[in-house]
Amino acid sequence: MSTHQHWWRNAVIYQIYPRSFADFSGDGYGDLPGIIERLPYLTQLGVDALWLSPFYLSPMADAGYDVADYTVVDPLFGKTADAHELIARAHDLQLKVIIDLVPNHTSDEHEWFKAAVAAGPGSSERDMYIFRDGKGENGELPPNNWSSVFGSSGWTRLKRPDGTPEQWYLHLFDVKQPDLNWNDERVRAAFDDVLRHWVDAGVDGFRVDVAHGLVKEPGLPDQKVMTELLGTNMGPMWDQDGVHEIYRRWHGVLEPYDGDRALVAEAWVPDLDRLALYVRPDEMQQAFNFDFLTAEWDAATYRAVIRESLAANEAVGAPTTWVLSNHDVMRHASRFGRLDTGDRNGAGPEDPQPDNELGLRRAKAGTLMMLALPGSAYVYQGEELGLPEHTTIPHEFRQDPVWERSGHERVGRDGCRIPMPWTADAPGLGFSPSGKTWLPQPESYRDLAVDQQVDVPGSTWSLYRDALALRKTRALGDGELSWLEGFGGNVVAFSNGDVTVLTNVSGDPVALPEGEILLASTPVDDELPTDATVWLRRN
Ligand code: GLC
Repeated sequence: MSTHQHWWRNAVIYQIYPRSFADFSGDGYGDLPGIIERLPYLTQLGVDALWLSPFYLSPMADAGYDVADYTVVDPLFGKTADAHELIARAHDLQLKVIIDLVPNHTSDEHEWFKAAVAAGPGSSERDMYIFRDGKGENGELPPNNWSSVFGSSGWTRLKRPDGTPEQWYLHLFDVKQPDLNWNDERVRAAFDDVLRHWVDAGVDGFRVDVAHGLVKEPGLPDQKVMTELLGTNMGPMWDQDGVHEIYRRWHGVLEPYDGDRALVAEAWVPDLDRLALYVRPDEMQQAFNFDFLTAEWDAATYRAVIRESLAANEAVGAPTTWVLSNHDVMRHASRFGRLDTGDRNGAGPEDPQPDNELGLRRAKAGTLMMLALPGSAYVYQGEELGLPEHTTIPHEFRQDPVWERSGHERVGRDGCRIPMPWTADAPGLGFSPSGKTWLPQPESYRDLAVDQQVDVPGSTWSLYRDALALRKTRALGDGELSWLEGFGGNVVAFSNGDVTVLTNVSGDPVALPEGEILLASTPVDDELPTDATVWLRRN
C-alpha cells in the first residue's frame, strides 16, 4: 500500500472536547447530538478528521477521563446510539473519527474496581488494580512516595464499611481514577475487546490516554525526581519499556481489519527519540509532539525541535505530528502572550495576565508555521477562532480536580475548556439553546464567536480555512522540508514543495524574497514584520 493511502499521515485532525463544543439538550453541557448538528462546520473549515475526548459513562471526576464503562455513552453526552450516529454522519461528510481510549486507569465506579474493593485483600479481583499494604507499623504509610499528577499523594487507603483501614491503591491521577494493573492478562484481554468494539462501530482510530503510564517499574520503587503536572515525566511510573509490548499487541488486534486505522499516543516522555519508539512500524501510528507544543516562542528552539522531530520519526518511518493546543494546556493564543511562552499551565485572576493581543498575533504566526510542515497536525476546538485562555474564572466555578488536589496552588485546565462561542448576540453565546454554560465564558469571546468570523475576510477563522485549503492543494502534509538560509537568526525559514515559509519570531522586519504571497498571518507587503508568518509561491 502506498503511504498516500494512510489517511493519517498528512491529516489535519480537529480535537473536540464534547462537553464544551455544542449543547443540544439545553443542560449547559455539550453533547453528541450537538456535535452531530455542527459537523458541517468542520467540513466548512476543511479538516480531515475529528478526535473526540471521552464521552463514556463516567462520574465525571476528571471530566470523563474517569471511565465507568468503555462502551456506553454517558447520559450527559446523549445516548449510546448517538455515538454510532455521529460516526456514520461524520463518514458521510468524509470526516474520519478518532475516539479517546483511557487504559491507564478506570473510574472507581467501574465494575472491576467495585468488585476488587468488595473481594478484599489477596483476591484475584484486586490483581486487576495496584493494591498494596501500607508501610509503617499498622500500614498507615503509603507503599511508596509516588504522587498524583494532579497533586497530593498517588495512594489512597481503603476503609472497610466499619471504618477500619485496610489496603492502599495507586492512582496517578485523581483518587477516583485507580490505576489498572497491566501485568494482568484479564486487563489486556478486556482492552482488546474495547478496541474491537469500537472498530466494529466504525471508528478510524484511537487516541491513547497516558500511553506512557500503563506499566510501572517492578517493585514500585520510590521516585527519586519529583514530577510536575504532566511534566518531566521521568520516574518508575513513566515510559517503562514494557509499554511497547502492549502497543504491539494492539497493533495486532487492529491489523486484521480492513481499512486503515491510527493509534495515537499521548505520551509525555523525556525526548523525541523515546517518543519515536511508540510509533515503530509494529506499534502505534502517531504520537503527539509535545516538544513542539511546549517550545518557547524562539526561532532557534523551533528550528531545533522541527529538525529533531523529523529526524526521530524518519528513523522509524512514521509521519511527524504537530500540535499547539489541547484540553490540558493553556491555549496558545494566550501562552504566546505570557512572559514565559513555554509555560503551559493555566493561570488565574491573581496571576500575571497574558498579553492576548500579542499572543494572538504570535498564535496565528505559529499556526501558519505548523500547518506548512510535512506530517499530520492537530487543531483544538476554538483555536480557529483565536480564543484566548479564560484566565479570570471565579474560583467557585472551577471543576478541574487539579485545583482541589493541588491545595489551590494550581488553577488547572478549566481555562482552555470554556464552552464554544457560536453566536455573538445569543445567551451563552449560542452554546446551548437554554443559554446555560457549564463554565462561564469571558466577555472577550463575544466578538470572536463563530458567526462573527466564518467567511469574514481577515478573521482568524478565514486564515485557518485558507491555510487548510492551501495545505491540501499544495500537498504540504505529504511534502518535504528544506531549510532556507539567509533570513537571519530570528526567522524560521523553509520550503515545502513550491511553497516558501517564513516565520519572523520576534525579530526586526525582514525583506520578503521574490514570490507570490499565498497567505500571511498579518497583512504584509514587501517586508515580513515581527511575529508573523508568510507563505510564498517560489518563482
Ligand atoms: C490525559 C488527559 C487529561 C486527563 C489525564 C488523566 O493527560 O489528556 O485530560 O486528566 O490524562 O486521564
